[in-house]
Amino acid sequence: MQNTRKITDSIIWIGANDRRIALFENMFPVDRGVSYNSYVILDEKTAVLDTADSEVTQQFLENVKRTLNGRDLDYIVVNHMEPDHCANIETLMRLYPGAKVVGNAKTFQMIEQFYDMDLADRTVTVKEGDVLDLGAHKLQFVFAPMVHWPEVMMAYEQTEKILFSADAFGSFGAVDALFNDEQDCPFADLAEMRRYFSNIVGKYGPQVQAVLKKAAGLDIAMICPLHGQIWKKDIPQLLEKHDKWSRYEAEEKAVAIFYGSMYGNTAEAAEILASMLAEAGVKNVAVYDVSRTHVSFLISEIFRCSNLVLAAPTYNNGLYSPMANLLEDMKALNLQNRKVSIIENGSWAPQAGKIMREKVSALKGMEILETCVTLKSSLKKEQMETLQKMCGEIVESLKD
Ligand code: FEO
Repeated sequence: MQNTRKITDSIIWIGANDRRIALFENMFPVDRGVSYNSYVILDEKTAVLDTADSEVTQQFLENVKRTLNGRDLDYIVVNHMEPDHCANIETLMRLYPGAKVVGNAKTFQMIEQFYDMDLADRTVTVKEGDVLDLGAHKLQFVFAPMVHWPEVMMAYEQTEKILFSADAFGSFGAVDALFNDEQDCPFADLAEMRRYFSNIVGKYGPQVQAVLKKAAGLDIAMICPLHGQIWKKDIPQLLEKHDKWSRYEAEEKAVAIFYGSMYGNTAEAAEILASMLAEAGVKNVAVYDVSRTHVSFLISEIFRCSNLVLAAPTYNNGLYSPMANLLEDMKALNLQNRKVSIIENGSWAPQAGKIMREKVSALKGMEILETCVTLKSSLKKEQMETLQKMCGEIVESLKD
């Protein structure tokens, strides 16, 4: 059966949810699934904007056929060539032999890399600012390289003022309410949006800033991304969140404590520090065991919080590997501008603190707070004062 939603009289969502998927990109846990958004514009000419993942092909094709309702398809616009959005291009080309594929020079390079399609006489190559005239609807192409791949472009529909934003402004999670004004709290899925942003495009802050500058020059009534909800309201707040994240500015003055612990001793120090912070009046302290929580959630919390506490044991004369993995991911995602406190453990030759310090110092704009706690196997009574000092230092730094 067709499962589509009208965005306007002539623009229709033809995407699909995948609630069975366990790992997005075979890497990120998505307990609430993911949506693959695709759109049709019905005008003098018809256009499908991006396709969908192969896991939802059946639903997607049903949606296309029913929505076109016997009409031919004129254009397949490819804003992003990642397989979760382009897996059905070839099938659409076969089903609609008159359809042309619209992309930029890089799009077509990638189509050739991924597939063996015969594109002869079936391409329309666009450049930044070009307009595809569908009749009453006109798609203006706004390039968004590296948000999240080099070929990415957005399409701004000038008449109804809709920005088809590709991976920008997307989210993990299948969509229960497709339009963000269909739920009481328009930012109900903020955590999953932040996790999507931080892990998928977090590395490309400057490129997201470039997109935000381009978006500022457009009169936008609605944002239609490739994943997650369609934004009908609160667009300024949505842009503001992305502005903050892409500047690597903390979203909140808040503390997240990340600990690795083999036998519970480093965990004990982390938990006691969390209690000290709460007693000192710090709200919403978040504590994570880096061995238990997938790194994508930790990265997302780092994008949210101004202050981080890293606590880990020494292992193989190096750093406990789940913490090393978190620090590698922080580097890969270009994380910057946080205040960091360090707790290390080492039963005979503590190394973890030195390594964490080096890795954090290599990131831009990081400030390591002075007090470091060194555990020799376990926290001792006489170290409570040092831990309390660390707590006081964090409380003070939150006031900056
Ligand atoms: Fe969902 Fe970068 O693709």
